[in-house]
Order: sequence, then C-alpha cells, then structure tokens
Amino acid sequence: METKLLKPSKESLDLACKLLKQGEVVGVPTETVYGLAGDCKNSNAVKKIFQAKGRPQDNPLIVHISNLKMLDGIVSYVPEDAKILAKHFWPGPLTMIMPKGKAICDETCAGLDSVGVRMPSHPIAKELIERSGVPFAAPSANLSGKPSPTTAEDVFADMNGRIPLILDGGQCNAGVESTVLSLLQETPIILRPGVITQKQLEAVLHKKVEVAKAITQEIDKNEKVLSPGMKYKHYSPNAKVVLVRGSFKNFKAYVEKKYENGTFAMCFDGEDKKLSIPSICYGKKSDAASQAHNLFSALRKLDKVGAKIVFTRCPQKNDISLAVYNRLIRSAGFDIIDV
Ligand code: TXA
Ligand code: MG
Repeated sequence: METKLLKPSKESLDLACKLLKQGEVVGVPTETVYGLAGDCKNSNAVKKIFQAKGRPQDNPLIVHISNLKMLDGIVSYVPEDAKILAKHFWPGPLTMIMPKGKAICDETCAGLDSVGVRMPSHPIAKELIERSGVPFAAPSANLSGKPSPTTAEDVFADMNGRIPLILDGGQCNAGVESTVLSLLQETPIILRPGVITQKQLEAVLHKKVEVAKAITQEIDKNEKVLSPGMKYKHYSPNAKVVLVRGSFKNFKAYVEKKYENGTFAMCFDGEDKKLSIPSICYGKKSDAASQAHNLFSALRKLDKVGAKIVFTRCPQKNDISLAVYNRLIRSAGFDIIDV
C-alpha cells in the first residue's frame, strides 16, 4: 500500500473524510500526539488499526468526538463528574472512561463494558470528525511499543506501507498523550497522567481524585490492572534506557564513568554542554511542559543516531512532571538508578 503524506487542504481533508467513511485508517494530528483514526462503529476499520500498529488485542482504543451530542450511543450514560469536566477541559487532552454505549463495536473497547472518550482541540482532528460525521477510535500512531509520534514524519517512519494517508499538521503541542481518567467509581482515578493534572481535576470537581499505583510502579504479573495499557512495555526506542536520579553533578560523574561506544546522555537543556559524552536534551529542567513537548521526539532521535544505551536525567513526579516520569520509567522498563 502506498502511504500519502499530505499537508492539510480542502482536497486532503476531503480524501481523509472519504477514507474514514469507507472504513480505512488515517494518520491524524491531535494536540497531544498523532493518532491512527478509524470509525469506532466499524469493526473492520478498528481491526485495521490494531493490525497497522501490531497492538495487543486486549488493549482498548479511545473514541474521539467533536461535540457532546455525539456521546449518545457511544456511552450508555454520562456521569455528573463527566459533565463538569467536559465543560472545563473539552475540547482538550482529557480522556474520560465511562460506561460503554451500544453504538460502538466491541473491538474498539477490546471487549470491555467501558469506553474512553475525548474531544480533541486540534483544528484538523476536529474538522475531520465534524466533516465526516465519523467519531473515530484512535490510538497513538506508533508501532506498538515505540515512542508515540509527535510529527507526521514520525508517523510515516512507523506506518509507511501500512495505511493510505497521513495528514501533516506539524508538531504536536502537548507531546504526551491525554490524561486518562476513570469515572466508573465514586472517586475518579487517573489511569494515565497527561498535561491536565490531578490538581486541576480536583479543583474543578471539588473532590479527591486518585492516581493509579501502576503509573509510577511496576505491577506484579498477577495483579489486576485498571487499564490494559498498564501491562505493556511502552515508549521504547531501540536503545536501552536507564533513568538516573540525583543531582546533575552526580549524574555527570556517573555517566562519564560508564561511557562506552553507543552510550548517550538524555539531559535537560544546556546540560549537554557540560557533559563530555554524546547527549540529547529533552526540555528545560524547571519546565515540565517543555519536557513533555520534547520527550518522544528525543527518544526517537536516539534511534536515528544509533544509541545503544541512554542514561536519562530523572524528572520530578508532580503535576505535568508525573506524565513525563510515567513515560520515561516505562521506556526504561522501570530501570532506575540513584546516584
Ligand atoms: O492523547 C491521546 O489519548 C492519543 C491521541 C491520539 O488522542 N491517543 C492515545 O491512545 O494515546 P492509546 O491507544 O495509545 O492509549 C489509550 C490508553 C491505553 O493505555 C488504554 O489501555 C487506555 O487508554 N484505555 C482506553 N480505553 C480504556 C478503558 N475502557 N478502560 C481503561 N483504559 C482504557
Ligand atoms: Mg499509545
């Protein structure tokens, strides 16, 4: 299959709408990361998404809508908390897990009786849903296990030959995927942290919001997970990633001692100049949003330069940093060293 990579125009958006309506899969920019979009009500379309990604069958997809009316049939009811949160955070990078409605196919939800829904704020994603009338299921547009793509070129690198079209909307703004929040119980639980934080959610809901343990800790193989995505290795470049926690001074001493051919440091902006080994920066030390924005493209760059082992500066664990920490600890397979 030939994969077209097109800038947004009337023609390319028309083509994308046509493909979606025909049950094909399209690479689409969103404000978080690029997605692989397919009609959430069409089993065959959703099967093609799983195939293109090589995604495990038991990992459900997020449904993207462009207005609240579309929730009819997608969810069986809308919890009160969801109404409040939608008012504050939609369109935007918040996915809410609600009871599944009858209109979506089982493949979208991987057989679960709940569904994750979000309303993206990216103008191209929005327009595509509005114009086609197709609420689309869309996972991140990477091959399963790889870092999520934040540019159309990154999508092309993984999906060339696997899907007919990628729309090029430039670099994604947030850089990490949406915050996933379960509303299936009285106390909402964050299943995946993103740029919308626990504090922001609590401030709007006026109640406690929990953070799932699996966000920062490796879970036991036999433990029950709240979100299937928590079980899998994720966000991994070809290189082995090791998180190194401690001061820059100790980090520098450690990585310079460990250096051999193929070793890289992944550090905060400006620190590269103080290191004597090859290094890649992933954002400002005191600005988690900039780390989130750059993280996945830095991980992908490491593959391009042929890194074998990557020692990475450890981010904080609060607010937006929690999203960065969560992606890094997973790309490191929970390998973390204190220096
Ligand atoms: O920002 C995003 O959310 C991006 C863009 C494209 O919108 N999409 C994305 O999708 O990150 P994906 O498939 O890569 O991640 C979806 C996550 C997975 O960890 C999955 O297990 C979880 O959400 N999830 C989806 N539906 C769920 C459900 N019903 N219950 C629990 N977890 C669910
Ligand atoms: Mg993903």
